[in-house]
Amino acid sequence: MRIPNHISQQVDKLREAIDRHNYNYSVLDEPSIPDSEYDKLFLELQKLEQSYPQLITLDSPTQRVGATPLEKFSQITHRSPMLSLNNEFDTSSVEAFDRRVGEKLGTNEVEYAVEPKFDGLAVSLLFENGSFVTGATRGDGYIGEDVTLNLRTVKSIPLHLRKSDKNRIPFLLEIRGEVLMLKEDFEKLNLQQREKNEKEFMNPRNAAAGSLRQLDPRVTATRRLAFFAYGIGEFEGEEIPRDTHSNVMKYLASQGFPIAKECDVVRGSVALLSYYQKVKELREHLPYDIDGVVYKINSLAQQKEMGFVSRAPRFAVAHKFPAQEVVTELLGIDVQVGRTGVLTPVARLRPIFVGGATVAHATLHNEDEINRKDVMVGDSVIVRRAGDVIPEVVGVVIERRPSNASRFMMPNQCPVCGAKVIRMSDEAVTRCTAGLFCPAQRKQSIMHFASRRGMDIEGLGEKLVDKLVDNGFVVTPADLYTLDDEKLTSLSRMAKKSAINLLAAINKSKSTTLASFIYALGIRNVGVTTARELARYFGDFNKLKEANVKTLQGIPDVGLVVAQSITDFFSEKHNIEVINKLFSDPVGIELKEERDIRKMQDGNNANKISGKTFVLTGALPNMSREDAKERIESLGGKVTSSVSKKTNYVVVGAASGSKYDKAVELGIVTLDEAKLLELLKN
Ligand code: IVH
Repeated sequence: MRIPNHISQQVDKLREAIDRHNYNYSVLDEPSIPDSEYDKLFLELQKLEQSYPQLITLDSPTQRVGATPLEKFSQITHRSPMLSLNNEFDTSSVEAFDRRVGEKLGTNEVEYAVEPKFDGLAVSLLFENGSFVTGATRGDGYIGEDVTLNLRTVKSIPLHLRKSDKNRIPFLLEIRGEVLMLKEDFEKLNLQQREKNEKEFMNPRNAAAGSLRQLDPRVTATRRLAFFAYGIGEFEGEEIPRDTHSNVMKYLASQGFPIAKECDVVRGSVALLSYYQKVKELREHLPYDIDGVVYKINSLAQQKEMGFVSRAPRFAVAHKFPAQEVVTELLGIDVQVGRTGVLTPVARLRPIFVGGATVAHATLHNEDEINRKDVMVGDSVIVRRAGDVIPEVVGVVIERRPSNASRFMMPNQCPVCGAKVIRMSDEAVTRCTAGLFCPAQRKQSIMHFASRRGMDIEGLGEKLVDKLVDNGFVVTPADLYTLDDEKLTSLSRMAKKSAINLLAAINKSKSTTLASFIYALGIRNVGVTTARELARYFGDFNKLKEANVKTLQGIPDVGLVVAQSITDFFSEKHNIEVINKLFSDPVGIELKEERDIRKMQDGNNANKISGKTFVLTGALPNMSREDAKERIESLGGKVTSSVSKKTNYVVVGAASGSKYDKAVELGIVTLDEAKLLELLKN
């Protein structure tokens, strides 16, 4: 059958458009059309290809996911071996590396291409006449596994190269890089695994490995893998740069391959070390896991001159970060009782240095989690501590399990107050049933009440709350307001001056906002944001107190569970008693109207923030993004995630990406941390 001209033209046009949108979405992370529009184009192409199967080509976007699972992977011998890098861990070894290089090349300040070291899996992608033909894992460096069908499902790997300016396409090009899973996609995958009651992955690297080594490419296609190029292997083609590594990387980017935004070119060892420091600080803000940085001599001629030693190049090294995952012994499992009575098993560990700190405890979340991870006391466990995240046990080294390892059993009594514990069939957690009669819950709820985002009582820390509750001075939050200096100074290690300061702080807390007060009550499932929404919606505490589930569900972000928690809280007699005490003499909490505060701030020149929309991008040197967000919001500003014409300010930190470009493009005011702080101060 002859194919009408306009049909093949339409097919070409659709493929070009789909590839372009896919590139914008998967490589640039800047979607150019809504998903529904993309799906429409895709469907139209699929239909045309069904009617005219002669038009189907292997590099058509519809052909990413093959239909037949493999029996096993076949082997691929790499055209040139995939070597590994020597690892350095400290400053002096890096300086020694730079010295060696300088001496051998007879140069003073060597120029290096510097890059993050991805924590994923090395792969090699072969393009022949511009088309992606085979892809292999690193294997032993000489022979890898043929994972072509799986790599074809990775959306950020182009299925064909673009023509160069001179209309040329390389005859052969082997691209080397790393397959990984973005942190965000890893979290989503584990959530799905949990919902399906299947084993979770320990970290993004394991998830990426498990996904890439699937025999059924349809499974890989559901896993959202990413690819980043970091170099080339064999090639034949005039257009491929032969001068510097950084130009090779530029070329790869121009061909549609994702490369790390953090790539740079620097000179000398001082600059290498400051790059290391910079990327180390960025680490937790990056969308993917990295385990160090890589320094490569930039000039390809100089690289050649340096050559190789055994299986590693002499022209490059990896400078590794301190490990974020380590193995240690699980000495025991303690059970802590939280504010809402939830019993949390906590791992007691043989203390170990991980992610920059010594860790002796790590959360195990709940009973199911312990069983899913098959954790037993006495096991060698893998502990992860990344950035500010609470350390957690991510898995067990089963081979090292001792014969006397013992299973953990959730107690059937509260370890603090002895009351019965229950576990609802629809919940993963076990709770103490004693409510505020349980000292642990009482302490936690008082701490929550006094916390910064709650009543903000400065100086009321955990140790003090322990003493106040243990001495019977404080049973409910209302009792805080009955404290006097006699009671306080009777406590061990409480000086007169601290007592006075604390009483002043308690007194000051009486005047607060509705949102802070709602948050302070510690209603289950009501965090800062929900508390703020509730305050904005009701504007009056009594209205909230009397609201029914239906009304509550009408509020943005409030679903059935939250609504139910709120009505449950207010139907508890004990809670109402405490609230009544808080509002009447001698306590007399006074809620300022949010509007008054807004006015006050406006008067104070804070209208620079109030009502304005901010976008935060990149890592700020001294403030966490969470902190910045909170401070902006506390002054009535709004923080959103994407830059549009409605954005008033873009706060720009290190390694900011497309959001910064967009801000410049739209002419939006950009602020660095110092300028933001200035605004906040005003
Ligand atoms: S260059 C000749 N660059 O690290 C060495 N490797 O130990 C070629 N890796 O298996 C490797 N990020 O998977 C290079 N920016 C980067 C890298 C990188 C991660 C991995 C790679 C390789 C291992 C080398």
